[in-house]
Amino acid sequence: MHVGILTGGGDCPGLNAVIRAVTLALINEAGARVTGIERGFLGLMLPASRPLDAAAVSGILAEGGTILGTHNRCDPFHYFGAGGADASADAIANAGRLGLDALIAIGGDGTMEIANRFIALGLPVVGVPKTIDNDIVLTERSFGFDSAVAVVSESLDRLVTTARSHGRVMIVETMGRYAGWIALEGGTAGGADVILLPELPFSVDAVAAVCRAREQRGQATLICIAEGACAIGEALTVQSTLPGSPDPLRLGGVGAWLQQRLQPLVASEVRSLQLGHLQRGGSPTPFDRVLATRFGYHAAQLLKAGRFGRMVALQGDACTSVAIADVAGRNRRVPPAHELVQAARGLGVSLGEI
Ligand code: F6P
Repeated sequence: MHVGILTGGGDCPGLNAVIRAVTLALINEAGARVTGIERGFLGLMLPASRPLDAAAVSGILAEGGTILGTHNRCDPFHYFGAGGADASADAIANAGRLGLDALIAIGGDGTMEIANRFIALGLPVVGVPKTIDNDIVLTERSFGFDSAVAVVSESLDRLVTTARSHGRVMIVETMGRYAGWIALEGGTAGGADVILLPELPFSVDAVAAVCRAREQRGQATLICIAEGACAIGEALTVQSTLPGSPDPLRLGGVGAWLQQRLQPLVASEVRSLQLGHLQRGGSPTPFDRVLATRFGYHAAQLLKAGRFGRMVALQGDACTSVAIADVAGRNRRVPPAHELVQAARGLGVSLGEI
């Protein structure tokens, strides 16, 4: 068996741990040959690849990013190298030239959508869910999320000291696209006083009222806002657009927007900070190293059993798999009645609701 592995979309802590687990499991348990496809699906187009063996994956468990490189704009079905035309036949031909029997695609919803189209064309693919956003459907966790939450939590711990010393309102903007998981868990772990999610449009007046009440008690305010959060009646704050990407909108800037809107309504100085790619960088947490290893090992088992068209998933703390077709093109957002949302309300954390 000759298996290709690629990482698609944005980088994420734990990608290398998956590459390592898949490679070692396939070599040790199936005597397989493993090839790394470089820079996501672009490596199938060019083609660009390299052999993976035990030596090649040695020492990468704790390394952030991806040793294979990635690409967030390469969709062979709308290939930028062909003026946006469908060049998927070239990718399939290259997979044949490389002698690949199957492919493991590690990525988010965009990667799963592309994988699903290749499966329909007869290329056997197994998927592994990756994203710091934790927004892939049918899996309770994706690796990378715990590492991002740890960065948000530590950032809030560090910022609260300045907020308290100066009596400030401090706004921290997290990533997460259209889902509020990072802000919800990071804000909870970091003890934020206000948590603003894309799933619950917020009132600037309600947030200002919380800040003023805290001022009167001599307390600073820590606000954790997701990049996809919107005030009631306002549109998403878009930082830039990336033409050709499966998701061209690059969100960002809502923290600075809120700072401008809040400052005239409160007495304290309001500051904001966008955490950005700090949340995606660096070494994965031990939880993510273990989850990525479990996912990689499970992906190898699916391949060995010929169970193609499946994506590894975590359900009820067990590794299982779901049909990639059921995942493609969908997002998992925070349900407004989620247990942690209710806990936040119960503990007096404001969600910006009126
Ligand atoms: O999907 C992961 C993510 O980090 C989102 O949280 C964020 O909106 C987006 O990717 C940023 O993408 P890029 O690195 O292309 O700017």
